[in-house]
Amino acid sequence: MSAFWNAWVWAITLAVILGCSWLLLATRKSEPHKEATEETLGHSFDGIEEYDNPLPGWWFQMFVATVIFGIAYLGLYGLANVKGFYGWSSVGQYEEEMAHAEEVYKPVFAKYAAMSIEDLQSQPDGLKIGQRMFANNCSLCHGATGAGAHGFPNLTDGDWLYGGAPATIKQTIANGRQGAMPAWGPVLGEEGVRDVTSYVLSLSGAEHDADMAARGKQQFQALCTACHGADGKGTQALGAPNLTDNTWLYGGSFEQISHTIRTGRNGVMPAHKDLLSDDKITLIAAYVYSLSNK
Ligand code: HEC
Ligand code: HEC
Repeated sequence: MSAFWNAWVWAITLAVILGCSWLLLATRKSEPHKEATEETLGHSFDGIEEYDNPLPGWWFQMFVATVIFGIAYLGLYGLANVKGFYGWSSVGQYEEEMAHAEEVYKPVFAKYAAMSIEDLQSQPDGLKIGQRMFANNCSLCHGATGAGAHGFPNLTDGDWLYGGAPATIKQTIANGRQGAMPAWGPVLGEEGVRDVTSYVLSLSGAEHDADMAARGKQQFQALCTACHGADGKGTQALGAPNLTDNTWLYGGSFEQISHTIRTGRNGVMPAHKDLLSDDKITLIAAYVYSLSNK
């Protein structure tokens, strides 16, 4: 905490404690009667009157006790940058708990650390740990079951953008991926986009206009094969999808495909190596691998 905020917190805390003490003593001093009295304050609400009695002693002492408690608490636990008698701090407590968790869970992960992703397939408890970490870290984008959504690949279907080998999955999770499909609208023009879209539809046997597709094929050969391959089956090293199957990351309708081609796509899979330890990434990768390798 900066020196300013430290002083700020202390000033407010001390002001409140001193203010309460002053209020308590000042009102006690101004009481006209030190003992119980029959006198009233003189006002009457529907015939109900108020005695001018002093605050009962036990009550007054309870207030004093809370003030003393507050001061003692400050002394024991400290405030802001000043450590108290016990040396407690929220950061210290957090670190202590993290160290404790590390100690408790380390043997659990160590048991699996030596195993390969293939070996882990026969470890139901290990896969369950992977599944829980998947739920915490991945389901937000890939869905609770890993089935994906528009723009987020399905991890259960055995169809891979970057490849489904254990080491490849692990690399995807650790280092992340960035899809790079350029925008072709400015190059092809609107008519060209529609022609190529028709050709892409023809690759997976979907309904299409044959004349447009024939023109689109030429464009495709010139512009798209470097990444998607001469046969349109894709290149996993570039994350360029197979266009001949019926699995679509961004949708397979004429409108969706032409939009993809016109404006490009840049799906981002975030890197997790700074968020999760290598042991954890291995267990998650084992779980992801198990989804399509039952
Ligand atoms: C912020 C959203 C997001 C999160 C969180 C996320 N992913 Fe991804 N993931 C993506 C996107 C988007 C892609 C596709 C990247 C592309 O289009 O090139 C992807 C791709 C992948 C792929 C490659 C799939 C293939 O077909 O090759 C794998 C495997 C994967 N993610 C696993 C995971 C795992 C495991 C986690 C959790 C540790 C995770 N992802 C967390 C968005 C996310
Ligand atoms: C520089 C490499 C590259 C070139 C060239 C390229 N693409 Fe792509 N394309 C990609 C990548 C990478 C993706 C995946 C983007 C992502 O994951 O966000 C993609 C995605 C697509 C998709 C979406 C597939 C789906 O499953 O939703 C279509 C359709 C497509 N490209 C068509 C084309 C066409 C048509 C051309 C030529 C006009 C072309 N691409 C040229 C790299 C390329």
